[in-house]
Amino acid sequence: MKTSFKLCLSLSIVSLALASGCQKSKIQNSVNREPSLPSQPYAYNAVSDEIATLGRVLFYEVQLSANNTVSCGTCHIQALGFSDGKQFSAGLADRHTSRNTPGITSESQNFGLFWDSRASDFEDLVLRPVTNHTEMGILDINTIPDKLKNLPYYSKLFDEAFGSSEITVDKIRQSMAAFLSALTRPQHSKFEQGRSSSNSNLNAMELMGMEIFTNKGKCSQCHTLSSFGWGDAANIGLELDYTDKGMGAIENADGTINEFAEGMFRIPSLFNIELTAPYMHDGRFRTLEDVVEHYNSGIKNHKNLDWRLRDFTNNGSGNPQSLGLNDMEKKSLVAFLKTLTDWDYVNDPRFNNPFIH
Ligand code: HEC
Ligand code: HEC
Repeated sequence: MKTSFKLCLSLSIVSLALASGCQKSKIQNSVNREPSLPSQPYAYNAVSDEIATLGRVLFYEVQLSANNTVSCGTCHIQALGFSDGKQFSAGLADRHTSRNTPGITSESQNFGLFWDSRASDFEDLVLRPVTNHTEMGILDINTIPDKLKNLPYYSKLFDEAFGSSEITVDKIRQSMAAFLSALTRPQHSKFEQGRSSSNSNLNAMELMGMEIFTNKGKCSQCHTLSSFGWGDAANIGLELDYTDKGMGAIENADGTINEFAEGMFRIPSLFNIELTAPYMHDGRFRTLEDVVEHYNSGIKNHKNLDWRLRDFTNNGSGNPQSLGLNDMEKKSLVAFLKTLTDWDYVNDPRFNNPFIH
C-alpha cells in the first residue's frame, strides 16, 4: 500500500494532471480512522514537538470540515510543495476557490499571507479556511471542540501537547500554527547546495539561466536571490482590467479602496516552483515556459504596472518591457528555476498525512 502511494505521488509529479485523481482515489481507499504516529514525537523546529504533532494531525483532519471530507491537506499536498496542481481547488461539495492554492513553507509568513497579504501570520490565518464557505464550511468555529471530542485519539494528543485533554479553539489555533511554522525547508535545493561554491554544481544551461534571472531578465529585482520572493507586492500586467483586483479589493477602514493597488499581488517565493503549477493568483499559466513568455513578450500596459517591468532604457517610453529572449535563453531560465526544488522538503515524513498508512 505504501509503495503504491509513493508511486502515485511520483507519477503525480511527472504529470500534474494525474495528481488530483491519484490523491483522491487513494484517500477514498485507505483513509484510516486513527492517525499513525511515531512512539516518540518527531523533532520539529517548534514551541514543542507534541504541539506540532497535534497540529499535523489537525492539518489532515477531515472532521474540521462541515461534511467531513475536506482537510487542509486536501488542497495543500506535500508532494506538490503543499499546493494542489489545480487552477482552482474544489473544497466543500465541489465549490471552487476563486484563487490558485499557493505552496506553503514556514517562510511563507515572513511577508504577510495569502495572495493579497491580508493575513498577518499563521495564527491569524489557520482558522479562516475552516469557516470559509468554499473551503471547509464550518458555520460556528465553537462547535469544533465538541466534534473532536468524539474522536478517540484527540484526548491523548491534547493532553500530551498542553498537559490537559480539554479541547479548545485556542489550542487548535496554536497547534496548527505551530505545525505550519515547523514546515522548515532543509535548504537542500540544488541552487542552495551550491551557494558555498559559487554554484559550480550547476550545469552550463542552469548557470546561463541564473545569469538571465539576475541581469537581462530582471527577475531578481522582485524575486530576490536571498529569499526568491515574498518581498513586497506588484502588478505584473496580466490584464488591462483585472477581474480579481487583488490588493485593490481590500477596503480601508473608511470603506474606500485604493485604485493604485488594483492588480497588485504579493511577490511569491519561487522555491519549489517546479512543483506548484499552475501559476499566478488565478492559475492562468500551466507551465514555467508560459510564465517566462509572459515576462518576455506578454506584459500588458495596465495603469498600475510595476515600474520594474517598464522599459526606461535608452530614453525608453515606459511601455511594458519586452525582454527579447531567444529560445535557448528561455529554456535556460526554466532550467534554473528547476534548481530551486527542495526534494528533501516534500519527502519529509514529519510533514505527511498520518491518516494514510
Ligand atoms: C479548498 C482548498 C483549500 C483548503 C481546504 C485549504 N486551503 Fe489554504 N489556501 C487555499 C487557497 C485557494 C489559498 C489562497 C487564498 C488567497 O490568497 O486568497 C490558500 C492559502 C493558504 C495559505 C497562505 C499561503 C501563502 O503563502 O500565502 C496558508 C498558510 C494556508 N492556505 C493554510 C491552510 C490551512 C491551515 C488549511 C486548513 C485549516 C487550509 N489552508 C485549507 C486553498 C485551500
Ligand atoms: C515587478 C516585480 C516582478 C518581477 C521583475 C518578476 N516577477 Fe515574477 N511575480 C511577481 C508577482 C507580483 C507575481 C504574482 C502575480 C500574480 O499572481 O498576479 C509573480 C509570479 C511569478 C511566478 C508564479 C509564482 C506562483 O507561485 O504562481 C513565477 C514562476 C515568476 N513570477 C517568475 C518570474 C521570472 C522568471 C521573472 C523574470 C523573467 C520574474 N518573475 C520577474 C513579481 C515579479
